[in-house]
Amino acid sequence: MVHLGTHISSTSLLSTTMRIGFCVTLLFVAVVAGNFNQDFDANWGEGNVKISPNGELLTLSLDKTTGSGIKSKAQYLFGKVDIQLKLVPGNSAGTVTTYYLSSEGKNHDEIDLEFLGNLSGDPYVLHTNVFTEGKGGREQQFYLWFDPTKDFHTYSILWNPQSIVISVDGTPIRQFKNMESSGIAYPKEQPMWLYSSLWDAEDWATRGGLIKTDWTQAPFVASYKNYSVQACLWSPSSSSSSCNSNNNSDNSSSSSSWLNEALDSSGLERIKWAQKNYMIYNYCSDKIRFPQGFPAECSS
Ligand SMILES: *[C@@H]1O[C@H](CO)[C@@H](O)[C@H](O)[C@H]1NC(C)=O
Ligand SMILES: *[C@@H]1O[C@H](CO)[C@@H](O)[C@H](O)[C@H]1NC(C)=O
Ligand SMILES: *[C@@H]1O[C@H](CO)[C@@H](O)[C@H](O)[C@H]1NC(C)=O
Ligand SMILES: *[C@@H]1O[C@H](CO)[C@@H](O)[C@H](O)[C@H]1NC(C)=O
Repeated sequence: MVHLGTHISSTSLLSTTMRIGFCVTLLFVAVVAGNFNQDFDANWGEGNVKISPNGELLTLSLDKTTGSGIKSKAQYLFGKVDIQLKLVPGNSAGTVTTYYLSSEGKNHDEIDLEFLGNLSGDPYVLHTNVFTEGKGGREQQFYLWFDPTKDFHTYSILWNPQSIVISVDGTPIRQFKNMESSGIAYPKEQPMWLYSSLWDAEDWATRGGLIKTDWTQAPFVASYKNYSVQACLWSPSSSSSSCNSNNNSDNSSSSSSWLNEALDSSGLERIKWAQKNYMIYNYCSDKIRFPQGFPAECSS
């Protein structure tokens, strides 16, 4: 049994038998209305990690001394994460706010969102990447269709056996499909933690490093609230995870829909809209970087 604070809301039996390379009894857990106090540890710059007493609001800050970051206590093997974020306002040039899932080790998997700051009034860049078995280099970058520093907006990662989908306010902007049948590795065996951090990357973040961090504006602060994780929890003690439990006493069918979720035609239309209007970099069309031809996944 795996515990994640007091927020385990349901355990259910899923009909899908997932082929994840080993056969175990697994536990599906939906986590709602997460509590930052209970579900995360500060893993960097602890003094700059502030959580409201009720656990609902988190702020990370960056000053000349240090940035800050948090890491989930739980590990997940597939999941859907929604988090509301308000980015560093004003002159945020040089700062990077991150939110990502990652496993550990040399051949790690990772699903990355990094928000690259900018001068007041200039657009943030949402930088995304996907690592599979240690191999990344799959950058796609986007402008947002709103000012991400004015209000909270929802940023989501769906990671299930079929695909990874990154969404902004419910609009999918990127999909990385399971293309194992074409010989491309897919994250499905290494459990991941959920991380977030705020750090200084003035060497490269804003206009490729041209604009440096203005430390007179410090501390820089990013705010988080209302996150939820629906996930298959990984149990390190039994080295097991998945979403197939013997326990069907609490079987809310809606709680597991993310595990089979796939983009429908309207989702695909919306990805096209986002990519046509807001994508500013796509490794799959960078001919200078890949003169010998694009990576295999670009053609599927
Ligand atoms: C089954 O799920 C219910 C509701 O989530 C929980 O109270 C109960 O302890 C679980 N039983 C086992 C054997 O895990
Ligand atoms: C729980 O869900 C499974 C799979 O969808 C279904 O076969 C089973 O009948 C459900 N059990 C209950 C008690 O609703
Ligand atoms: C910052 O603003 C400039 C000018 O509008 C733009 O070219 C750049 O993409 C923006 N974002 C970053 C992170 O540099
Ligand atoms: C919290 O997030 C969920 C989605 O994860 C959303 O449905 C809900 O409206 C949000 N609540 C508030 C108060 O913003």
